[in-house]
Amino acid sequence: MKLQASIETALNRQINHEMAAAYSYLAMEAWFEQQNLAGFATWMRVQREEELEHARLIFSYVHDRGGKVTLGAVDGPQGEFGSPREVFARASELERGNTKAIHEVYELALKEKDYATQSMLKWFIDEQVEEEKTTTEIEALLDMAGDNRSALLLLDAKLGSRGTGEG
Ligand SMILES: [Fe+2]
Ligand SMILES: [Fe+2]
Repeated sequence: MKLQASIETALNRQINHEMAAAYSYLAMEAWFEQQNLAGFATWMRVQREEELEHARLIFSYVHDRGGKVTLGAVDGPQGEFGSPREVFARASELERGNTKAIHEVYELALKEKDYATQSMLKWFIDEQVEEEKTTTEIEALLDMAGDNRSALLLLDAKLGSRGTGEG
């Protein structure tokens, strides 16, 4: 069954959301590099790679269904932050927004009785639970660290192990 136009449009919009998230995480990586917090920067790099992979998964799915990928513009992301805590508040906000966007595509797929798209989106719905949990946890750890520089450096070391199989 070929993709319906409304679903194709929604999936293209979701590709754009994932690319925008990747771009935001790239800006956050740059900010952490500027602060000499290499571990946080590494975490952001892995996060960006995940977002690019999400975009690629939907990209492939549109093609698998005989649809057409149309790429829109991605706005310049926020690049200035007051603190690591502020970066993660923004990351959590971004993830909540993306969860909402995925739920909207899913609702449309339900309405249009597009069972294949519903099935594909289930992975994304589960993934968003993880994404929101992770950024919220790091926010809590940053709250605990407060103004303590040693605690911040410990957290930097911990987050830097992401993507090495230990993080
Ligand atoms: Fe994503
Ligand atoms: Fe995400």
